[in-house]
Amino acid sequence: METQNAPEISPGIFQAGIRDWNRTLFDVLIPLPVGTSYNSYVVKGARTAVIDSCNPGFEAEWAAKVSRVTPISEVDYLVMNHAEPDHAGAIPYFLEHNKKAKLVASEKGAKMAQTYFDAPTERLHVVKEGDSIDLGGKTLRFLDAQWLHWPEVIFTYVPENGFLSSCDFFGAHTAFGLFDDEVDELPYLAKAYFGEIMMPYRSFGKKALEKVLKLDVKMIGPSHGPVYRAPKPILDAYAKWTSGETLPKVVVAYVSMWNHTEAMVKRLEATLADEGVIVSSFNLATADTGKLAAELVDARAVVLGSPAVLGGMHPMALYGLSLVKALKPPVKYAAVLSSYGWAKSVAKPAVEMLSGMPIEIVGAVEANGPATEAVLGEIDALAKLLAVKIKGV
Ligand code: FEO
Repeated sequence: METQNAPEISPGIFQAGIRDWNRTLFDVLIPLPVGTSYNSYVVKGARTAVIDSCNPGFEAEWAAKVSRVTPISEVDYLVMNHAEPDHAGAIPYFLEHNKKAKLVASEKGAKMAQTYFDAPTERLHVVKEGDSIDLGGKTLRFLDAQWLHWPEVIFTYVPENGFLSSCDFFGAHTAFGLFDDEVDELPYLAKAYFGEIMMPYRSFGKKALEKVLKLDVKMIGPSHGPVYRAPKPILDAYAKWTSGETLPKVVVAYVSMWNHTEAMVKRLEATLADEGVIVSSFNLATADTGKLAAELVDARAVVLGSPAVLGGMHPMALYGLSLVKALKPPVKYAAVLSSYGWAKSVAKPAVEMLSGMPIEIVGAVEANGPATEAVLGEIDALAKLLAVKIKGV
């Protein structure tokens, strides 16, 4: 257990969050090479509110930190910006150790608090867009932030400080750093987080960002990662990411059993690079899904490479394609490469899987065994056509 301090990050606002150095995976999907944090903000006016709690297992540590500001039993409000257990998991502990506070949530959030945490109806305080709570010298103002990334999410804004508690929005998985300027790799970590969590909800993110930009935000406290005391760079980055701005970049995701598909992929990558296209390549057998998600945030095209096996796409390619589809990146073009033994069985299902997305399938090359010179020529032609489209946007 680390020192139970709760640093004051802005006058009357304290960070009582938890640093989880040991967690290695989020959602049983995303590797966490530098851990993560579950941020919790104590806002102290004449009365005290706490915004978000922590992941199950850290309740006592969290309560000790909060109690450095106000004894946990004396807290007046616990705001649940989001019902996911990494931020709301200490609600049962809180309700047991505090008999008077109201649990503040959106209408959908209140129902989730009852479902997940057995929150009694009489402890709930439901808020909607524009509602506020006067703490005496500090105000909590609530913004509807639904579908970022669950339907019940709210943001909490403290106008006296220009402090925005934005829940997962603007988040980053790292246990390092209290403030943004203390973590060199934060721009990349924030991009990866956006790709993993927020990218499928870009349209909601765009609307939320418009609301945030109307506020006089001086500091952003996300629920994971450092506090932004200089928020402009992350606001600018989110303006690009939520609007789906892309670069002349291809993400290549492939798997290969006997190097034949890999040789096809490498030929395509080399030709694309010669044509001035940025290439981010991932062997799905070893790829970090967080890095793949980060690269998809501003990629203009995606290429899938898979051998034919078991009558279709390699299961890892199927997984990679499912992930791309679920993350809904702003890619505009796609292509498929495959080496097969006796029957073409990859391009057709891959194209079918991509058909529900607003993506143009630029082409597919399927080779029987290792690529012949003729096949390599087809790949060069495909790469050049893809490059023209990518650079023509
Ligand atoms: Fe970090 Fe959606 O919880």
